[in-house]
Amino acid sequence: MKQFDAIVLGAGGAGMFCAATAGQAGARVLVIDHNADPGRKIVISGGGRCNFTNVGAVPERYLSANPHFARSALSRYTPADFIALVRKHGIAFHEKTLGQLFCDGSAKQIVSLLMDECAAGSVDFAFSAPISDVTHADGRFRVTAGGHEYEAPALVIATGGPSIPKLGATDFSYDLGRQFGLKIVEPRPALVPMTLAGDDLLFRELAGVAAEVIARAGKAAFREAALFTHRGLSGPAILQASSYWRHGETMAIDFLPGHRPGWLAQVKRDRPRATMKSVLSALLPERLADALSGKLALAGDLHGAKDAALAAVEQRLHNWEFRPNGTEGHAKAEVTVGGIATDGLSQQTMMARRVPGLYAIGEGVDVTGWLGGYNFQWAWASGWAAGQAIAAAR
Ligand code: FDA
Repeated sequence: MKQFDAIVLGAGGAGMFCAATAGQAGARVLVIDHNADPGRKIVISGGGRCNFTNVGAVPERYLSANPHFARSALSRYTPADFIALVRKHGIAFHEKTLGQLFCDGSAKQIVSLLMDECAAGSVDFAFSAPISDVTHADGRFRVTAGGHEYEAPALVIATGGPSIPKLGATDFSYDLGRQFGLKIVEPRPALVPMTLAGDDLLFRELAGVAAEVIARAGKAAFREAALFTHRGLSGPAILQASSYWRHGETMAIDFLPGHRPGWLAQVKRDRPRATMKSVLSALLPERLADALSGKLALAGDLHGAKDAALAAVEQRLHNWEFRPNGTEGHAKAEVTVGGIATDGLSQQTMMARRVPGLYAIGEGVDVTGWLGGYNFQWAWASGWAAGQAIAAAR
């Protein structure tokens, strides 16, 4: 049986970064993955350019049952730290929008960075190694994977969440967490397109149309692009809001963000012969203007409408409520909200409070970032915190 100081389950961003951190601090680390190669989500992330961090990665931009949990790890390994590492590896990058940093070249450069950092820490890998058994006795974890047995006093759950199963994503983090008595916050797909039915099918006729909107779910509001699809709604604003949406709830869209109350009555005074359709056509893509004006109970020109009626139309356009019938599910979700409950983990080290030597990091934990590089920053920060702690505990 091969002995290590730590076994990391999962060769994604969190697992590799944890392994590199512990390895470079002197720990003998093994990373196990059932895939044949590392970092498959990294390779496809950010449209192939990996949005590897966000300069505004503050704890408030993460969802968790304990909103304070991520604070410690995020403050000790910051976006500036990862940017310095990206620079050290000579990877060119740029800010696209809203603090989002992308590689100029390819997301594969980030996988190479992680593999190089692991090599610098003499980290061992076992790929194509399905994990068949994990046991714990006398302070040591024993893992059977790919027909081999490995043992270590530290075990890291870094097997991510179930979004995009075709990349090798599974529920394994939750199963293993439960095996060790950790609670699981109900997982659900997030950063995911919404599906529509009934009256809201109106939007499906607009497949391909995009517009800048404010999308709202619960108390969250995001001003970005929305994209109408043949199944419902997508685009950054909708993906962001989807993380806050729960089955049965409504969502709302402001189709004309930034317009002051009373703007439509002002248009009536300036251009009394204008129609709702002509007004909306000047502000929105033609097909969207058509669809919305068709749904608004305002025939004829604005001249004939009372200010109160115009105020009601305004209200509808700024708060267009609809009830999604679901999401496109884990098959299309960028991340999973929920996961291993943070109350069983130390926020400094990511170690399970009741199982010394057991750590959980990355997306498998109940910490989920906004769209825009936040989830990788959590993978780096939580991986770094656990890697440091593993090295210090040797
Ligand atoms: P991750 O899922 O990356 O790694 C888990 C590893 O465990 C995988 O290698 C998997 O094979 C392995 N594994 C799973 N089950 C196993 C089992 N039973 N046995 C053995 N191994 C197992 N985020 C961001 O910040 N910027 C971005 O640009 C994007 N873009 C993006 C695009 C798309 C299409 C997706 C799906 C996701 C993103 N994300 C993102 C989210 C980001 O990819 C995600 O949050 C991180 O990859 C999570 O890193 P982890 O290491 O926690 O899990």
